Amino acid sequence: MRLNAPDPQKPPIDWWRITPVLLIQAGLILTLAVFVIIGMQQIEPGEDNKAGPQLAFAPPLESDIPDGPQGEAILRGKAIFLDPARYAGAHVGSGLTCNNCHLDGGRLAGAAPMWAAWGMYPAWRKKNDRINTMEDRIMGCFVYSMNAQASPSGKPPPAGSDIYRDLETYFAWLATGAPIGQELPGRGYPELPEPDLTPDYLRGKTVFEAQCAVCHGVEGQGQARPGGGYTYPPLWGPHSFNWGAGMSKIANAAGFIKANMPFGSGNSLTNQQAWDVATFVVSHERPRDPRQTGSIEEARAKFHKSGDFYGQVIQGDVLGDGVE
Ligand code: HEC
Ligand code: HEC
Repeated sequence: MRLNAPDPQKPPIDWWRITPVLLIQAGLILTLAVFVIIGMQQIEPGEDNKAGPQLAFAPPLESDIPDGPQGEAILRGKAIFLDPARYAGAHVGSGLTCNNCHLDGGRLAGAAPMWAAWGMYPAWRKKNDRINTMEDRIMGCFVYSMNAQASPSGKPPPAGSDIYRDLETYFAWLATGAPIGQELPGRGYPELPEPDLTPDYLRGKTVFEAQCAVCHGVEGQGQARPGGGYTYPPLWGPHSFNWGAGMSKIANAAGFIKANMPFGSGNSLTNQQAWDVATFVVSHERPRDPRQTGSIEEARAKFHKSGDFYGQVIQGDVLGDGVE
């Protein structure tokens, strides 16, 4: 018997009967494809960003916050996150909120979201060469980003403080259902590819004046609210993050700015513009690095070997001596 011979027993295909079924199937596949493409475009992080499309974890909705003591702790944590000056004021020495750098209540992928952080601690940190619990990590943001040294107490919340417990309850809840110990897409700030041209202060200044000053002020001072706090947070000067903060590293600032600024138009700058304007922003004086005990030169050698402008002469000024 020849293998390829048509089988005389096989009935002819009844196209009349199966055509509608095939059409419906094709229709379903097409609809699905369209949804997938639309979905991918919405979270596509910009064409010259090599991160590519990312499917972000979805934290629970506000309406899912449980009743009772746990729900109350979640809400207290969220309140501290949005307005630390009000709910943790003894330890806040800057004009910033957690939410200023971890946008949308710590929910936004690409803005160092808390649901992505939660499952990654305890973790070894090179910054202090030891294992860091989540509490240690939050304390770090109090010390550097919130400049706790200039706060009424002069210190971050002490270990074991309810401030940490409430924040952690909020983060754990945001991470409901997220895998533990797994790097989730959208964690941290996107890592931008190296720019074609060396990032430049003056090109950055041009971007800043055209795209940032309208909210953050021509002096980067932000816009203070009459009742306290800021409508638009300060980018440098006495009320901004200090020289030890992660945001003072050019790469962190560039990634944050590319993904999230100008506010409401994230991913509209080119990578080059993001590097340039980040360079401009972190080339200005800000509160001193609390780790600096001796000279700027010593602190530079110890804590600022690369990645920022601490201890360098920019526009005729040695950066790092701090402003109060
Ligand atoms: C000036 C900006 C800024 C402010 C204000 C700020 N942070 Fe951060 N935070 C950062 C940066 C930068 C990182 C490091 C992000 C990275 O590694 O990509 C970070 C990291 C973190 C992480 C670890 C994230 C991870 O994925 O490992 C936690 C937790 C955190 N911050 C909590 C807070 C809390 C709580 C507050 C308020 C008390 C706060 N931050 C205020 C800039 C800020
Ligand atoms: C429409 C107003 C607006 C514009 C324009 C804008 N920002 Fe922002 N920026 C904000 C707001 C609001 C926040 C805080 C976000 C929050 O709390 O939800 C912020 C936060 C920041 C932060 C982190 C917090 C801090 O104080 O350091 C940086 C850095 C930043 N912006 C840089 C820039 C740069 C660079 C540009 C120009 C490319 C820019 N922004 C344009 C409104 C704006």
